[in-house]
Amino acid sequence: MSVKLNDNYVKQFITDEEIGEYRDRVIDADRKLRTGTGEGSDFLGWMTASCNYDRDEYDRIKKAAEKIRSSCDVFVVIGIGGSYLGARAVIEFLKSPRYNQIKDGSPEIYFSGCDMSASAMNELLSLCKGKDVCVNVISKSGVTTEPSVAFRVFRELLEKKYGREGAAERIFVTTDRARGILKPLADREGYERFVVPDNMGGRYSVLSAVGLLPIAVAGIDIDELMSGADDARKALSLNDLGKNDSYRYAVIRNILLSKGKNVEILVGYEPYLQMFNEWWKQLFGESEGKDNKGIYPSSVIFSTDLHSLGQYIQDGQRLMFETVINIEHEDDDIIIPDDPENCDGLNFLSGKSLCEVNRTAMRATVLAHVDGGVPNIVIDVADRSARSVGYLIYFFWMTCAMSGYLLGVNPFNQPGVEAYKKNMLALLGKPGYEELAASLSEKLK
Ligand code: PA5
Repeated sequence: MSVKLNDNYVKQFITDEEIGEYRDRVIDADRKLRTGTGEGSDFLGWMTASCNYDRDEYDRIKKAAEKIRSSCDVFVVIGIGGSYLGARAVIEFLKSPRYNQIKDGSPEIYFSGCDMSASAMNELLSLCKGKDVCVNVISKSGVTTEPSVAFRVFRELLEKKYGREGAAERIFVTTDRARGILKPLADREGYERFVVPDNMGGRYSVLSAVGLLPIAVAGIDIDELMSGADDARKALSLNDLGKNDSYRYAVIRNILLSKGKNVEILVGYEPYLQMFNEWWKQLFGESEGKDNKGIYPSSVIFSTDLHSLGQYIQDGQRLMFETVINIEHEDDDIIIPDDPENCDGLNFLSGKSLCEVNRTAMRATVLAHVDGGVPNIVIDVADRSARSVGYLIYFFWMTCAMSGYLLGVNPFNQPGVEAYKKNMLALLGKPGYEELAASLSEKLK
């Protein structure tokens, strides 16, 4: 198993009896998930995304990735929320947050359309100057304003540079099978098109074309990623709290919430986990944060944040628990050199591996935080391989689904995201929003 739950550091906060009390509810939620009879059951495609997918499209994804890799210097991925976070998280996890500086023969990859920042857009446009560019616009609805604006800018850039037909060879569209504006546009212009499956919400879509195409362009083995997720699908199919780590983790989260632990902090000890943290926050934030319920998902990278948020976690309000991602084996290591003069007093570390020191920092911190009243859940991940990352993604999906059902929410919708969108479109003058625009303008006076 690539991923294992270690709940030793929550034992002083919750008992096995408390976990056992959830057994019937877990069985019920598991039945709802497996029979598709729970809330949001139209969006359960992620459960079999690793084995039940369109093989022809999967082959096209690999071919398109090769075409992109051989025909551009810069690959721009346009999308927001679930339409970009998964791909970026996996690329940074398996390659590096500095991928663009250290990539070997692959195009640079930039993400756009996840903000309305003119400076970010200008910066990216200048990075594209004099370079060959390909674009993948990803939007299930095809109407989300941020990526739509970015796509308009890049479509214009590509059409000016390569002509309309040349641009069509460089634009790849990932969108709904039938709905939205992107599909007819892609069909009219002849852009290669990939499908966001009907039964998959954005944050559960990284193992569809949404994530797989950019991940494959980065040179990552998507077969391995899918195999890892499929290992997890098989391993996490039992409704037994002793054997299903996702379900056990989901129960522990809900018990901790009932004891006033309203904040969960995902902890990584590697900078390459930063974007994975962001993906995870979206997954749990959008899935559970509704109906005035939910654990607030937060994240840190240690040691960096031990010297900022570490103080609060150790000593501030006791409202949080931590979930620590422990990468058990790292290929990259470095031995700390000896200094015969020991002028920095560090010779007690001479000859030690930096990975071992990092692991010790983790153990020390877990113990300190538990002593400070912060329950710690440790997720042991075998290594930094595509297979393990695929497993981890599925593990969190399954945890999130179970946890949401135990909490009593629909973990597959995101009604709250609409509120800002409506206001923004009204204030920007979109036809049909005149009444709302008038009332908002009054409030802004
Ligand atoms: O998880 C989700 O469903 C959302 O975060 C969406 O991915 C996000 O809002 C982008 O939507 P779309 O792909 O329709 O542009």
